[in-house]
Amino acid sequence: MTKILVTGGTGYIGSHTVVELQEAGYEVVIIDNLSNSNIQVLDGIEHITGIRPDFVEGDVTDINTLRKLFTDYPGIKGIIHFAASKAVNESVKKPLLYYRNNITSLLNLLELMPEYDVAGIVFSSSCTVYGEPDQNPIDETAPIKPSTSPYGKTKQICEEIITDTIYAGAPIKSIILRYFNPVGAHPSAEIGELPLGVPQNLIPYLTQTAAAIRDELTIFGDDYNTPDGSCIRDFIDVVDLAKAHVIAMRRMLEMKDTDKLEIFNLGTGQGLSVLELLESFERATGVKVPHKIGPRREGDIEKIWADPSKANRVLGWKTEVDIDDTMRNAWRWQQKITPT
Ligand code: UD1
Repeated sequence: MTKILVTGGTGYIGSHTVVELQEAGYEVVIIDNLSNSNIQVLDGIEHITGIRPDFVEGDVTDINTLRKLFTDYPGIKGIIHFAASKAVNESVKKPLLYYRNNITSLLNLLELMPEYDVAGIVFSSSCTVYGEPDQNPIDETAPIKPSTSPYGKTKQICEEIITDTIYAGAPIKSIILRYFNPVGAHPSAEIGELPLGVPQNLIPYLTQTAAAIRDELTIFGDDYNTPDGSCIRDFIDVVDLAKAHVIAMRRMLEMKDTDKLEIFNLGTGQGLSVLELLESFERATGVKVPHKIGPRREGDIEKIWADPSKANRVLGWKTEVDIDDTMRNAWRWQQKITPT
């Protein structure tokens, strides 16, 4: 069995990816410091797949922890690197935390990969690297624009670090995946998103409002240059997203050249406004969500959606889950975790 290290594997996208990797026959080792997840996620994974992944509680920014991991679990062939801080607002307030966490972790992995014969790394990037696009849908050749947050900058810098390392001839391969807006949960409701504190992202705030944990959802702006005035995003189901990682891993490990790098957008190709997403949630679940229109949120992009045709063509991957099903899954998960 091919052994894969998943950093941040108890997190939101990480846990869904672990499930898909196991179901595709990979052996998974997770490293996570549980800073934004909890250990019960392993139970959720095991309930779905029947396999408990190996788990190391530790920090990828600590190179000695990583050395011990590669020694204790020999033969790791590939890495999927999710472990990173991802709250845009927090990154503005604590830039050093973001630069240290997100960049040191990648440097450590890239340094150790040749030493432990790890062939390749799949890296979690974001559509945030494009900034406000000149046109939509946006493909991988679009220019990278200056980012407004340290979080966004870490994604841009990490992409550059991988690129420079590979072009310098390091004996490793990489696939960079630029996610649009991941939403939803596993249909089993065994795993999903577990936001700490007050959620910053739309869907956890929306589902917590539907569950009466929050009084009201605020729509950040209805005066954008879009058909209904709210922002437009490309909301991608987290299970669809997870499946793309399995395909990317397989492709990367099969690539002949050692110095190979590829970049893919992962999105549906459909732009949906914030108000349309709210409608989808209410339609799919029958639950009304109290909401009001508020001012714009600083730093928000007006509209962005993916041209995923490269991933469709080269990876043979496309999204399958309908947005209403995604909303039902998100709601099922929220109901499961809501304290009663
Ligand atoms: C942001 C980041 C993205 C990052 C992601 C996960 C940017 C431009 N984007 O995505 O890189 O990967 O977070 O952390 O930095 N909204 C409301 N009310 C709410 C919450 C959100 O109306 O209570 C709106 C926002 O204004 C936005 C949309 O919903 O238009 C999506 O917001 P959010 O879920 O926070 O994701 P992004 O900002 O798109």
